[in-house]
Amino acid sequence: MRIVFLGDIYGENGLKAVERFLPRIKNDYPHDLLLANGENVSSGLGLNKADYKGLMRLGIRGVTLGNHAFSKAELFEFIEDANIVRAANYPKNTPGKNVLTLNYNGQTLSIIQIMGRIFMGDPLNNPFETLDELLPTIDSDYIFVDLHGEATSEKLAIAHYIDGRVDAVIGTHTHVPTNDAMMLPKGTLYQSDAGMCGVKFGILGADRDTVINKFTSGMPVRLRPHDDKVLQLNGVCLDLEKKTIKTIRYSD
Ligand SMILES: [Fe+2]
Ligand SMILES: [Fe+2]
Repeated sequence: MRIVFLGDIYGENGLKAVERFLPRIKNDYPHDLLLANGENVSSGLGLNKADYKGLMRLGIRGVTLGNHAFSKAELFEFIEDANIVRAANYPKNTPGKNVLTLNYNGQTLSIIQIMGRIFMGDPLNNPFETLDELLPTIDSDYIFVDLHGEATSEKLAIAHYIDGRVDAVIGTHTHVPTNDAMMLPKGTLYQSDAGMCGVKFGILGADRDTVINKFTSGMPVRLRPHDDKVLQLNGVCLDLEKKTIKTIRYSD
């Protein structure tokens, strides 16, 4: 099974980037299933129903979230029935699924998300303990993990902890792709962060002047998407049978 996973799609320009570069992905990285992180699709914060449908129209079969999962309250209305998985280490009463399982040609792929706790601020359960409890309950041909976190040290620790127990661990959240795609010693494919899809010259997808102002003034500001025509797309292509990982990177 070959899958393409796209890093955090940020705002309307993120959707445009996917639309723009998808023909090249299909040509350069033929795949069976397209997955993406969707925590920033709706104006940079969360995912509303119209944008979820937009992701489905682009052919994305599974959507992961992150710390911005619940920024749009509308998500509560459709999360249970959608092809969406939120972090498994939220408290047990948090709406949404711990595991999303997709079928392709008679094979099953389970998608889970786990969130790091370093510099994240969410009320999360211990990711290591959550994985120990959750993984034995999954009976699928393949398991893909979106590892949503800020600290590469924590991401590497979690990845090595579950090396050999899952097929791939791909990081999200920082919006900056890392140059460490590899197979871990026990066979799990890994990259610390897939990067993002959206504008190229914003700051993590957000308006750069607003972000600079936040740092130079020390004042809280409301981030908004950077409006620009120059786009980028970042992700990975994984062959789960042959155990290969290729980094996908396009920009205007
Ligand atoms: Fe994000
Ligand atoms: Fe995030």
